[in-house]
Amino acid sequence: MTPLLTAEAITVRYGSLTALDAVDLQVPLGQRHALIGPNGAGKTTLLDVVAGAARPVDGRIRLAGRDVTRLGPAARARRGVGRIHQRPAVWDSLTARENVLVAALPRAERAGRWYPSARRRAAGRTADTLLDRVGLTDLAAVPAGQFAHGQRRQLEIAVALAGQPRLLLLDEPAAGLSAVEVGWLAEFLRGLPRAVAVLLVEHRLDLVYALCDTVTVLRDGRTLATGSPAEIRASVPVRQAYAEGVT
Ligand SMILES: Nc1ncnc2c1ncn2[C@@H]1O[C@H](COP(=O)(O)OP(=O)(O)O)[C@@H](O)[C@H]1O
Ligand SMILES: [Mg+2]
Repeated sequence: MTPLLTAEAITVRYGSLTALDAVDLQVPLGQRHALIGPNGAGKTTLLDVVAGAARPVDGRIRLAGRDVTRLGPAARARRGVGRIHQRPAVWDSLTARENVLVAALPRAERAGRWYPSARRRAAGRTADTLLDRVGLTDLAAVPAGQFAHGQRRQLEIAVALAGQPRLLLLDEPAAGLSAVEVGWLAEFLRGLPRAVAVLLVEHRLDLVYALCDTVTVLRDGRTLATGSPAEIRASVPVRQAYAEGVT
């Protein structure tokens, strides 16, 4: 079967620095795939390339077999790519509900809600459902600018899900969260329907091993290993790379 995401020989350069060097990655439908590796390995860059936010100098990105290498972030989002950033990206001046609403409107339009009022109603229902799922119903009317970091993270997840992604890219979602919030996040990701594939960048290996089916280890822009959590845990090069300095 055609994988949902195929990254083929992705190379990204920033000036003289090669951030990614011919990296391959495949994520089948519904898979939970982790991307780990030391700081500067190229994890965020690879998410950027998958989301269309960075252009590779070489290589191809395919979504469900279609070459999307030349498409920008908005077109990729329409094709089902959702993203959580390393720093939660939400609109501070909008309320939590408005943030999700804005993200849900295009989807309502594509679902055939042509009248603005019908579109707003459909998007409103989506927003209310998603705010409930991430536990923010009580804060729906509060501007996101007043949210603590963990709440911004919850909101960003709701915003990403409003686009009904087939592939959710998460960049260190547990960073900066309290122990309770990390527990919530793990539970939430475990409960995500398998209709959503996940590509998760995360330093917390306990989370990675608990949540993911497959793990890819990057280092200095290259793939060091790909395998099941058990294989990665046992891999000597991976243990060496980690012993040499990762959090
Ligand atoms: N916009 C950019 N301009 C220049 N260098 C960058 C840029 N983004 C990332 N880099 C460099 O590319 C390398 C990979 O970065 P990144 O993908 O952020 O790594 P990771 O997320 O694994 O920590 C690093 O050396 C980083 O400094
Ligand atoms: Mg990063």
